[in-house]
Amino acid sequence: MKNVLRLAIVDPSDTARDALKGMLLGMDRVWLEAECSRYEFFADVVAQTNPDIGVVAIDSNPTKALELVAQLHEASPECCILVLSNSTDGNLILRAMRAGAKEFLSQPVKLDDLVQALERIGNRNLGRGEQRSRGCNVIALAGATGGVGTTSLAVNLGCALASDERNSVVLIDLDLCLGDADVCLDTIPDYTLVDVAQNASRMDFTLLKRSLTKHSSGLFLLPRPVQLDDVNLITPEDLQRVIGLLKATFTHVLIDLSKSYGTLDRVALSMADHVLLVTQLDLPCLRNVVRLLMSFSEMNELAKKVKVVVNRVGLDSGQISLKKAQETIGRDIFWQLPNDYRVMVEVRNNGVPLLQQAPKAAITQSIGQLALALNGEEAADAATVETSKTGLGRWLNLWPAKAEAKK
Ligand SMILES: Nc1ncnc2c1ncn2[C@@H]1O[C@H](COP(=O)(O)OP(=O)(O)O)[C@@H](O)[C@H]1O
Ligand SMILES: [Mg+2]
Repeated sequence: MKNVLRLAIVDPSDTARDALKGMLLGMDRVWLEAECSRYEFFADVVAQTNPDIGVVAIDSNPTKALELVAQLHEASPECCILVLSNSTDGNLILRAMRAGAKEFLSQPVKLDDLVQALERIGNRNLGRGEQRSRGCNVIALAGATGGVGTTSLAVNLGCALASDERNSVVLIDLDLCLGDADVCLDTIPDYTLVDVAQNASRMDFTLLKRSLTKHSSGLFLLPRPVQLDDVNLITPEDLQRVIGLLKATFTHVLIDLSKSYGTLDRVALSMADHVLLVTQLDLPCLRNVVRLLMSFSEMNELAKKVKVVVNRVGLDSGQISLKKAQETIGRDIFWQLPNDYRVMVEVRNNGVPLLQQAPKAAITQSIGQLALALNGEEAADAATVETSKTGLGRWLNLWPAKAEAKK
């Protein structure tokens, strides 16, 4: 279970232990390996079960519990220790940290705080050379203008990722006024981003998952609000919290941005690991790509995360060439998606994903390969379109050949 953080808990208070267990319930990336009600047995439990995280609730007997923390730190150094206490006394926190605790959370534990602490621990484990798959990939999809294929890519990339059983994938529709991801998946959601955002601080993972709409492809959807008036009810803090919660339970969070690049879009951009900037090969689009990249370069680290995706390659003979496009935007094109009007109209009108309607189509295969590349698989082949003529030619021939080879 390489996607999972394994936890062992010690807390002599049954009520508090149950409350914490309730909070962890439904959090797919956390596995409760063991629980224990006695401090004196916990070091053995950890030695035997080898969890990633040992949670020690210290209030029943702080002295004894902190001795246990020191003992665990010594005997099982690879287990990260997370201390829980009702107290916010600086001295106690210091003693816990000195004994070897990596994180200190005050009780009652807030889901947000727990998620963030687990994320920090997960990142530290990554730093120790553990598999990247432990983390969550947040992928924002941005368009150079309306109608370039951002939502089509978001939905179908989501389905492609979800078709791998190792992945759990959610798509947030952040095109709050006109978003149509729900239509592309032919679903009528019970809840929207507004419901989840407004209740984010009170949610547990079970409730969160219940608020999402699950498509038969396995993709979960958090759609845009129904009423235009509700759009303004979502604050940047709410959205940050929602993305944080989703990150804790999904391997991939996809966000279909609006074309307004407003405050909420910026929150999503700042939290993304990858930003797929979708464009077509015409002048207005490429000019917007240049403008967006310039603005992104002023936003912390953002430009580095951007990957340019050219959609509808081969649309008509008047298209600007890829080489010219690369020269214009001054960076490599990460991916190209072929034009396929007939298939795309069909999937849209039927409200089904490409994988279901046209699994063998070149566009479907290309999106499948993109999903792999984003996961770091086969990335060496797919990563860049080289600027040299030979490099470009080699790459242009790559995806159909690989797609065939996969079948
Ligand atoms: N690769 C493609 N080939 C042909 N048509 C496409 C392709 N990608 C998207 N489309 C079509 O372009 C239109 C706009 O796509 P959409 O995903 O809604 O764009 P956006 O979300 O950027 O506004 C849709 O009708 C879609 O079917
Ligand atoms: Mg759209």
